[in-house]
Amino acid sequence: MWVEKDSKKNIYWPSSEMKKKAHVSDEKIYDESLKDPVKFWSNHAKKSLNWFKSWEKDYEEDFPDFKWFSGGKINASFNCLDRHVENNGNKPAIIWEPEPVEEKEQILTYNDLLQETKKFANVLKKLGVKKGDTVGIYLPMTPHVQIAMLACARIGAIHSVVFSAFSSEALKTRLIDAESKILITANGYWRRGKKINLKKSADAALPDTKVQKVVVVKRLEEDLGMKSGRDFYWDELMEKVSDDCSCEEMESNEKLFLLYTSGTTGKPKGVVHDTGGYLIQSFLTTKWNFDLHSDDVFWCTADIGWITGHTYSCYGPLSNGLTMVIYEGSPDFPEPDRFWKIIEKFKVSAFYTAPTAIRMFARLGKQFLEKHDLSSLKILGTVGEPIDLDSWNWFFEVVGKKRCPIIDTWWQTETGANVINALPGIGPFIPTVAGRPFPGIVADIFDDSGKTVKNEKTGDLVLKSPFPPGLLRGVYKNPEKFKDTYWSDYPDVYYSSDGAKFVFNKNIRVTGRIDDVMKVAGHLLSTAEMENAINSCAGVSECAVIPKPDKIKGFVPVAFVILKKNFKKSEEFADTIVQSVRKTIGPIAKPYKIIFVDELPKTRSGKIVRRMIRNIVSGEPIGDSSTLENPNSVNFLKKVIERELK
Ligand code: WTA
Repeated sequence: MWVEKDSKKNIYWPSSEMKKKAHVSDEKIYDESLKDPVKFWSNHAKKSLNWFKSWEKDYEEDFPDFKWFSGGKINASFNCLDRHVENNGNKPAIIWEPEPVEEKEQILTYNDLLQETKKFANVLKKLGVKKGDTVGIYLPMTPHVQIAMLACARIGAIHSVVFSAFSSEALKTRLIDAESKILITANGYWRRGKKINLKKSADAALPDTKVQKVVVVKRLEEDLGMKSGRDFYWDELMEKVSDDCSCEEMESNEKLFLLYTSGTTGKPKGVVHDTGGYLIQSFLTTKWNFDLHSDDVFWCTADIGWITGHTYSCYGPLSNGLTMVIYEGSPDFPEPDRFWKIIEKFKVSAFYTAPTAIRMFARLGKQFLEKHDLSSLKILGTVGEPIDLDSWNWFFEVVGKKRCPIIDTWWQTETGANVINALPGIGPFIPTVAGRPFPGIVADIFDDSGKTVKNEKTGDLVLKSPFPPGLLRGVYKNPEKFKDTYWSDYPDVYYSSDGAKFVFNKNIRVTGRIDDVMKVAGHLLSTAEMENAINSCAGVSECAVIPKPDKIKGFVPVAFVILKKNFKKSEEFADTIVQSVRKTIGPIAKPYKIIFVDELPKTRSGKIVRRMIRNIVSGEPIGDSSTLENPNSVNFLKKVIERELK
């Protein structure tokens, strides 16, 4: 048993066995780290990472810019690979499970991963990639993606990974913004037993971008169209290069990667992460939050296209020299027990997934778990959205058999790594509550006037100086946006756009986003981006995309659409709109429903009051409608929503 129930409350504590094994088990770590957070992070960075040259300054701040470990020279690829090889070269680094059951798993040891990375770094160099260049990566979950990322890091190129289920238009926008000259993709992959032709999407994205060379992983047998002089097969390029490649010495604050995330405008933001700061927060949160020791097997189920994949399916576990599992396919293929089968097969000790997956498994039923031995599990983790009580209980009771703590980690693409959660050896583990800020991180919850809220009152979650080492350093090529989005709501703090409250003495429950982005099956999507796609359909006059609560996905997008005169509401038109969103963003953003309306509540200045529509859709109080331009629209809308969504 790794946890014990509190005798009085519905909360859990680490068992003595857990306390004994845990990397940290003394609550003093919180107060001590906060006496001097800079010293806390510097000590860990010194102790846990390999530096080519030590830094001159631990931390500098010129609000909102800040730097960690200035002057220090480091390489992420070296820290994830080279330094483990001498003693642990034959240890599995990646266990890759392909989706087709007849295909065997592949194991890459640290030796293998280092060799492949060095070779691919040479391939990149040969294709003309230099330090500071951005490289687009549009790959499924095969080890090529970690190799490609680490190869970029090795030579100081900046990777920009785009989720493989994003559409070609979404890829194009990101390639253009990042100015990528090279794209690494695959001819396809397996998903739910079907072949997905990724190359076709990649090809469609390339016109109008600066991409000159495309490296194609041959995941499927068929040739899905290679353009001579532009497209090259990965394997063929790898045959022609040496396996020797030294590491670029990167100044700690130089960029490691860009990752695009949705914002409140239609255009995704290129979140910039640096090298040294990002790496230490990734390293330490992986080690402490999942209490990983050298013989553990870690599995984070997130796709590499999201920050969770970057940090917990690449940099975090590999910088710790751990063994991790990655899986190509769908959780319920060929049967709904695939995840549990994988846990049993590889004896996974820490399993990190998302509430949306837990809700799906809970609905499918526990019979799919019961035939599998999940006794290797010690820690369960969740991320991506607030977890509801039923899902928490199901995860705890059915998956963990009441033996394992649930580490509910709050963080964002922008924070780079986990920020708020309970630690396995300290606890408490409180259903639906993330916990305390990770040691060395200063977080607070503000009311409108910028003062700390009282217990149980909801406010805005903020991070305070010294800012966590993994926190973003900018929005690519857009310093104004960086300032406006994160640093302007309150003086001197980072604003997260999440609502939260303090419960049970300084523990934090995150209640969810307060801006116009929504989480659909754990994926962060921008309502403005979806609205742009809808507005681009001929005949649409105006629209509002609103999140509707959903039992499995958390939220699903519902589009309210006003047509131009002379255009008729029809199912075909609704389908055209759905296809436009699919094409512009990808299938994950597909609206659940298109509702044609004649008007929407508006302010006197003509702005659609989305908050009000949102409240009607989620059955919350509507608020004052008397100041609207068209107060009658509210009753009308209520009836429509009642009819269409209930
Ligand atoms: C939400 C994912 C509640 C939150 C790592 C945040 C959570 C957004 C949690 C970032 C959690 C993430 N509890 N909400 N444990 N984890 N979120 O950038 O709204 O894809 O702002 O990063 O996910 O989503 P992103």
